[in-house]
Amino acid sequence: MADWDLLLTNMRIATLRDAAADYGVIEDGALAIADGKIAWLGPLSECPAHDARETRSLDNRWITPALIDCHTHLIFGGNRAAEYEQRLAGVSYEQIAAQGGGILATVNATRAAAKDELHESALRRVRQLAASGVATLEIKSGYGLDVRNELKMLAIAKGLGEASGLCVQTTLLAAHTIPPEFRGKADDYISLICEEMLPVVAERKLADAVDAYCESIAFDAPQIAKLFRAATNAGLRVKLHADQLSDGGGAELAAHFDALSADHLEYTSAAGVRAMAKAGTTAVLLPGAFLTLAETQKPPIDALRANGIPIALATDCNPGTSPLCSIPDAMALGSRLFGLTPAECLAGVTREAARALGLEEDRGTLEPGKRADIAIWDIDHPRDLIYWMGVNPLSELLVGGRPLDT
Ligand code: NIG
Ligand code: FE
Repeated sequence: MADWDLLLTNMRIATLRDAAADYGVIEDGALAIADGKIAWLGPLSECPAHDARETRSLDNRWITPALIDCHTHLIFGGNRAAEYEQRLAGVSYEQIAAQGGGILATVNATRAAAKDELHESALRRVRQLAASGVATLEIKSGYGLDVRNELKMLAIAKGLGEASGLCVQTTLLAAHTIPPEFRGKADDYISLICEEMLPVVAERKLADAVDAYCESIAFDAPQIAKLFRAATNAGLRVKLHADQLSDGGGAELAAHFDALSADHLEYTSAAGVRAMAKAGTTAVLLPGAFLTLAETQKPPIDALRANGIPIALATDCNPGTSPLCSIPDAMALGSRLFGLTPAECLAGVTREAARALGLEEDRGTLEPGKRADIAIWDIDHPRDLIYWMGVNPLSELLVGGRPLDT
């Protein structure tokens, strides 16, 4: 007889387990949890004989996989709302960067901030994400840009996982922009990352992946290729901010290095899409940045679909281009701005977001053997999650089978 910790009954389940079957709905479902994992799920009528320590009725609510935010920069000092006012008055993101604002403004504020202060402000954002149904999130460094401050950011990111009870994946984004000390010497800075940061980060296991910003205002393809070779040699997977403001061949570069994901992709070419398809690189779309930068060129959605590329969606939560701290709102924007279907949006923040983090074997769908990371919703249908904005229908979040106090 099956030995379970908890049996959930009387609910509708969106398993998201099959890309060909939209939400993968089970009506009148039941789901069993043992040792923090899903032990069984299916229609209640097919439930095997069991010995469950606790059974709970969910009163006909819906459950989905807990949500995953696979691209955030949510640790930062300072505030760049004033830059947004400048942009509204016609100054471009690139112009602000050239004047020493933009990412560098946040670098200055982040370097100056105490660790506790950064932890506290970021923890508020992590809790906000958890309150909207997120159980796993990725957090990038990239506002330190020297050994001490990049390590400080990664250590804070790890601490946020412990403090919040969520699963945090960390990414070294030291190649976010050229730090002031290296102005005009981008190659030297890339060498510093490869020779001094990466070895320490790899040895102390501070990062799960390495990211870079491929753009005219940041790094070019040869510089990033050098970084990615070093990352790969250190045993770390890579991902890339690719083709956000112009086609810099970012998608091809990411695919060449077998990247987990290529992110943004507004200016990606047909050749870039084909390269991603061949390599199995996940596309991460970031509608918050598209909206905030008043971008008009959409990512090549039809080509991504036609090539069978998994499409994930994320908040890109950051102080400069995406002041967005809600995954349901990222879904709403993904459908409004990019024309993604509600089922694509929900898959984008569950199954495909897990894939973007290399965690697809372990989470992102509701299937036996996967982590019992489950969001319980007060909704009539999963499409409601994409339709409403600024409304929070989350009823409860289970992380590893246990209720998280959101
Ligand atoms: O994902 N594109 C580069 N990085 C961020 C922006 C960071 C910032 O402006 O502070 C992004 O949009
Ligand atoms: Fe980003």
